[in-house]
Amino acid sequence: MSHPHTSHPRLLAWIDEVAALTTPDRIVWCDGSDAEWTRLTDELVESGALVRLDQEKKPNSFWARTDPSDVARVEERTFICSVDEADAGPTNNWMAPAEMKSLMTELYRGSMRGRTMYVVPFCMGPLDAEQPMFGVELTDSPYVVASMRIMTRMGAEVLSAMGDDADFVPCLHSIGAPLEPGQSDVAWPCSETKYISHFPETREIWSFGSGYGGNSLLGKKCYALRIASVAARDEGWLAEHMLIMKLTSPEGQVRYIAGAFPSACGKTNLAMLEPTLPGWKVETVGDDIAWMRFGEDGRLWATNPEFGLFGVAPGTDFHTNPNAMRTLAKGNSVFTNVALTDDGDIWWEGMGEPPAHLTDWKGQDWTPESQAPSSHPNSRFCTPIEQCPILADEYYDPRGVPIDAILFGGRRKTTIPLVTEARDWVHGVYMGATLSSETTAAAVGQVGVVRRDPMAMLPFIGYHAGDYFQHWIDMAKGASGDASKLPKVFYVNWFRRGDDGRFLWPGFGENSRVLKWVVERLDGKADAVETPIGHVATPEALDLSGLDLDPADLEAVLRVDTDEWLAELPQVTEWFEKFGDKLPAVLWAELDALRARLADA
Ligand code: PEP
Ligand code: MN
Ligand code: NA
Repeated sequence: MSHPHTSHPRLLAWIDEVAALTTPDRIVWCDGSDAEWTRLTDELVESGALVRLDQEKKPNSFWARTDPSDVARVEERTFICSVDEADAGPTNNWMAPAEMKSLMTELYRGSMRGRTMYVVPFCMGPLDAEQPMFGVELTDSPYVVASMRIMTRMGAEVLSAMGDDADFVPCLHSIGAPLEPGQSDVAWPCSETKYISHFPETREIWSFGSGYGGNSLLGKKCYALRIASVAARDEGWLAEHMLIMKLTSPEGQVRYIAGAFPSACGKTNLAMLEPTLPGWKVETVGDDIAWMRFGEDGRLWATNPEFGLFGVAPGTDFHTNPNAMRTLAKGNSVFTNVALTDDGDIWWEGMGEPPAHLTDWKGQDWTPESQAPSSHPNSRFCTPIEQCPILADEYYDPRGVPIDAILFGGRRKTTIPLVTEARDWVHGVYMGATLSSETTAAAVGQVGVVRRDPMAMLPFIGYHAGDYFQHWIDMAKGASGDASKLPKVFYVNWFRRGDDGRFLWPGFGENSRVLKWVVERLDGKADAVETPIGHVATPEALDLSGLDLDPADLEAVLRVDTDEWLAELPQVTEWFEKFGDKLPAVLWAELDALRARLADA
């Protein structure tokens, strides 16, 4: 065993306990060095778990294929193990902590046999934060170690910053595939039995059976959203599933915008957007997670706790997200479940003309005639955020950036107009609480079904969603009693379709036109029409210069269709009824007021 450069008693005791339970052959303390990365990736290439990509095309980068059963977050196997079942609420799976722990203890018993247990000290957010947010992941997956090195600040620096008594979130992960002596390994070991468990009171994470991203890189969804949301509730801040962008106008005015969209709905593309409107500039602060705390000025300041990007690959190309492509070209990345080209590069659907031959995500020969896509729809790139050519300097500031506007958005073919401004904070919370989206491949299950996804946090709220809504409403008190300091809330939908199924709005870089309208609303400059659902952009108020858009499509993408909205209300009522007494009365009042306004329309 390599020498631990710590005498942190709680950490050492926990590692001893886990090692005694899981019985790994060896324990390796990760230092986060380049040498360690090289050793790990060499071993992974040697064992066949990774394929090294061409050094010219994608330097220091690797191709991974998972087991075909281990390709996405498993929401059905994700549990919030609060002491009281009522605290998990109706949107989470629950099991009593003692029951879950005894069940999982038996799964972990001997589960690292024949493998290495890696100790991965990490920090979510900058190490020089006032209160650095530490975690330690114990894992038997070297793929997870390599990915955690990209996604978090990790290694010796973190361990030394923890000293002997820093608080940390213990994150236990095992793929659940012990290796018997003489047994040969598979490229992607995992278990059919999967549990992704969170213990909110004791701030612990136990994950078993999966090596896939959100199930196994425990600093990300498990810590920075589910566990952090509980801490945020207790301490008066917000841990949200949001991108953070810096937007500069041609006049040099800077605005910061946060945006909540469900998985695989374009957060990464929006965070790195290349505006088509001349003179506008977007810089990236974060693409998936925002931690928002009140500053002394009473405003909400957001930081990105992550160190990398774990983006959905298909659909990403030089048209949809040129800055992601530039980020990936610099290398140092892991690609999972995309296709491999014959010359050692990667390819996925959406990258233009396919090559004549590929190796697909299942390791099979693939040609343009093949029926199935070459890449899994939830295939991912994992790449250092510091390689993003438009990373904002503020990314490094532990205070973060003051948020001017929050966008809520989903993927809806109908009903939801391109952009609507909330009338006030509570109406904004109503918009967030009733946010809906068609499901995507980011989670196991059916794709394309409309479901409520409040604040795009449905799979990530670590407690009762009714309490979560109340917490959002209560944020108005945190703004030094001055709600005008809170961000303005907007509801957007890039995905509305015409009767013929076409997207009505071109999206991507053209979304800068919507961002311009948002910023002008903040300045009280742009026109909107007051509708039953809020302030909707007028066609004239959107800057459409240089855009060839059919006026009928423009009218359709902005339309508030009373019948469609009335049809939505029973679903919202049913959604709210789930929360019983925990649904804040002001949200019922918002629904009633909306119904009344629609009836008058
Ligand atoms: C994941 O799916 O594991 C993940 C981290 O990302 P997403 O937000 O797309 O679910
Ligand atoms: Mn996400
Ligand atoms: Na996902």
